[in-house]
Amino acid sequence: MSTDTDRPLWLSGHMAPVPDEIDAVGLEVTGTLPDELTGRYFRNGPNPLPGNDSGHWFTGHGMIHGVRLNGGRAEWYRNRWVRTKKLADNSPFLRDDLTFDRAAVHANTHVIPHAGKILALVEVGFPYEMTPELETVGPCDFGGRLTTGMTAHPKQDPVTGELLFFGYGFMGPYLTYHRLSADGELVESRDIDVPGPTMMHDFAITENHVVWMDLPVVFDLELVNGSMPFRWDDGYGARLGVMPRHGDGPVRWFDIDPCYVFHVGNAHEDEQGRVVLDGARYSPAAFTAIWSETGGPVSEVPAADAKDPATAAASTGSARLHRWTLDPATGKATEEALDDRGVEFPTHDDTRTGHRHRYLYTEADGGAIVKYDLRTGSSTALELGADMAPGEAVFVPAEGARAEDEGWLMTIVSDRAGKGSELLVVNAADLSRTASVRLPRRVPAGFHGSWIPDA
Ligand SMILES: [Fe+2]
Repeated sequence: MSTDTDRPLWLSGHMAPVPDEIDAVGLEVTGTLPDELTGRYFRNGPNPLPGNDSGHWFTGHGMIHGVRLNGGRAEWYRNRWVRTKKLADNSPFLRDDLTFDRAAVHANTHVIPHAGKILALVEVGFPYEMTPELETVGPCDFGGRLTTGMTAHPKQDPVTGELLFFGYGFMGPYLTYHRLSADGELVESRDIDVPGPTMMHDFAITENHVVWMDLPVVFDLELVNGSMPFRWDDGYGARLGVMPRHGDGPVRWFDIDPCYVFHVGNAHEDEQGRVVLDGARYSPAAFTAIWSETGGPVSEVPAADAKDPATAAASTGSARLHRWTLDPATGKATEEALDDRGVEFPTHDDTRTGHRHRYLYTEADGGAIVKYDLRTGSSTALELGADMAPGEAVFVPAEGARAEDEGWLMTIVSDRAGKGSELLVVNAADLSRTASVRLPRRVPAGFHGSWIPDA
């Protein structure tokens, strides 16, 4: 009989941490790995030390799982904790003098390449540089220029190669915009005026703008001794902001219905100069549900949903794909649900970040990868089955691709019963299975990753 029933969700089943670091070579491949997929797939996620309960899914120590592909072969798998100050000796993030040690963090959310470096990210701290073999180099503050945390969701401008990102603060400045040059130098930092400290997990860019999400999940000092000091606040309101990237023009704010968005899909400017943002939207009740499931403090169903008990009862902790259109001519935002299926981790062809995209890919409830065609409004799915848990599906364009969906999706899929994991490679055009790499161990459910091709 399983003892998992006594454990929190994040220590159970397919989310349970693994106890150690291992290496394996010569992995079994089913199907045919394309020769041109030569590089590394790295994926980050929380993995508390053995016997420890992090108290919240989001606060386990970062562990990166890596798979090396080379000319049709799967050469190795290895997993490594990011060797942060937090892992070394549980150094406090908040020092006694009320300053923050931004190297004393979990570095558990994403791992990205930029300017020849591989960075493990968590939003409240400095990035940690990793080697291609997954050894930890150390924290990176870009030569002392970075004085805030760094979101785990920076956006690379596909035209300029710059990396745009932000940091949020608990005590002010609450929001700071940053820009790294294509060669990795921090060349701009700009404080942004927002009413208060919120959990801002993601943002979006367009060709000419940055899109902010100022949403009602607020920092609460009284919760600071808990694991994630944020709670829903009906009184905060919800706004999207459009800020010119070039020059120092003001942010234009658009009120929207209260919701929470961990992840955007993409954003672009349309022919009328409107800013269009796609994202995975949690209703207030859905946010409350997922925040509670992942270990966060939840005291009540937000009023916006409490008015309708039927809605509240039917709510699950799932997000739905939505599109917001922000019209500077009217100052109004319009909002449209693109589907009613529960989805998360939207991805797109990163060469179109900030530009009009036709396709989004998501992981979906019921154990599926769903592809949205935003031109036709249709969607297709690769149904893996309810007992399978796919993660974020990273899009890798084919060499010389002409169609936007010419390429592959890469995702780690785990059996919910804890039996094992595979790196699944899917043809993005028709969602057929291209290849599967059997991993030598179960990989816990995690957050985000990247395909890092050989230079
Ligand atoms: Fe994320």
